[in-house]
Amino acid sequence: MKNSKANDKKSASIIILGIESSCDDTSAAIIRDKVILSNVVAGQKVHEEYGGVVPELASRAHQQNIIPVVDRAIARAGITKDEISAVAFTRGPGLLGSLLVGTSFAKGFSLAAGIPLIDVNHLQGHVLALFIKEKEGEYNPPAFPFLCLLVSGGNSQIILVRDYLDMEVIGQTIDDAAGEAFDKCAKVMGLPYPGGPHVDRLAQLGNPLRFEFSKPRIAGLDYSFSGLKTSFLYFLRDNLKENENFIEENLNDLCASLQHTIIDILLNKLKKAAKETGIKEITVAGGVSANSGLRLALQENAKKYHWNLLIPKFEYTMDNAAMIAITGYYKYLKNEFAGQDVVPFARTQMDVQGL
Ligand code: KG4
Repeated sequence: MKNSKANDKKSASIIILGIESSCDDTSAAIIRDKVILSNVVAGQKVHEEYGGVVPELASRAHQQNIIPVVDRAIARAGITKDEISAVAFTRGPGLLGSLLVGTSFAKGFSLAAGIPLIDVNHLQGHVLALFIKEKEGEYNPPAFPFLCLLVSGGNSQIILVRDYLDMEVIGQTIDDAAGEAFDKCAKVMGLPYPGGPHVDRLAQLGNPLRFEFSKPRIAGLDYSFSGLKTSFLYFLRDNLKENENFIEENLNDLCASLQHTIIDILLNKLKKAAKETGIKEITVAGGVSANSGLRLALQENAKKYHWNLLIPKFEYTMDNAAMIAITGYYKYLKNEFAGQDVVPFARTQMDVQGL
């Protein structure tokens, strides 16, 4: 859909309001010509006692959070609503009820303000977070083509990025995501949700080579983490039979060995992808990229294989609306707008040529 108001505003600077509500974070951000002006994220503590995200509770919390979060993002950016050129929102993948809140809000905002609506693929947003510019400091975006290891609670993919809106998934998990492996294994050790950051912290105190867990044998560049999860579970069950304090007595080593295995699986396929494509521009995105062991392993491999490694700032690796706004910016430049009849989607592979 083309929008004449969009064309009128193209000579001036482009200001995008981004909305993210795919899982359990309600977020709104303002970007002006790639520069981030604000990025407000409201987490949802309500899920902690359940050991995972409860979809219905997430939708309700988004309903409560969305208006104050958007108001705060606009105020922090120091702009008025009238200055916004377009509103971009996460269309999917994610939890349908959560996505519906952001989608409906964005549609209403677009109608009321008479500005274009832009639908954004959440995964594409994670990749394009690498292009967010801050008001101050260095700006080092990756050069095309590059490979992005996208690792989050719902996805583990290797993406070949040819241009801003031209991406191809060349490898992906056939079952669980890396973040799920962290979270589910953490849960069986009695750690709080989400377990990834806890495993990371405890792993720093343990021996990564103490225990060995099964690694998948999957062809090509695809991943699998469900076997590791099962092998971890059986390993604990067997050892708990012998010693009921096995987990407490070995927690740091268990975390370190688990993390070491996950990183090994992730890096083996990434190295293979770099070798097969001949691409040395390597990036990482998604919540799991906050993992300190993964960052270290990436740096070591970058040195060894002469990669130009780019890791986004921590706040842009987690779910956030700044990445939705920057993707909206690039879609705006190409007049790629959505109509009011657009609907969210829960599951998808990231499509080539910019969904
Ligand atoms: O990208 P993200 O915020 O949300 C999704 O799209 O899923 O990723 C959340 C995931 C969770 O599985 C969480 O445990 C994991 O990222 N995570 C970590 C770390 N920080 C977050 N996993 C390992 N180490 C971390 N430091």
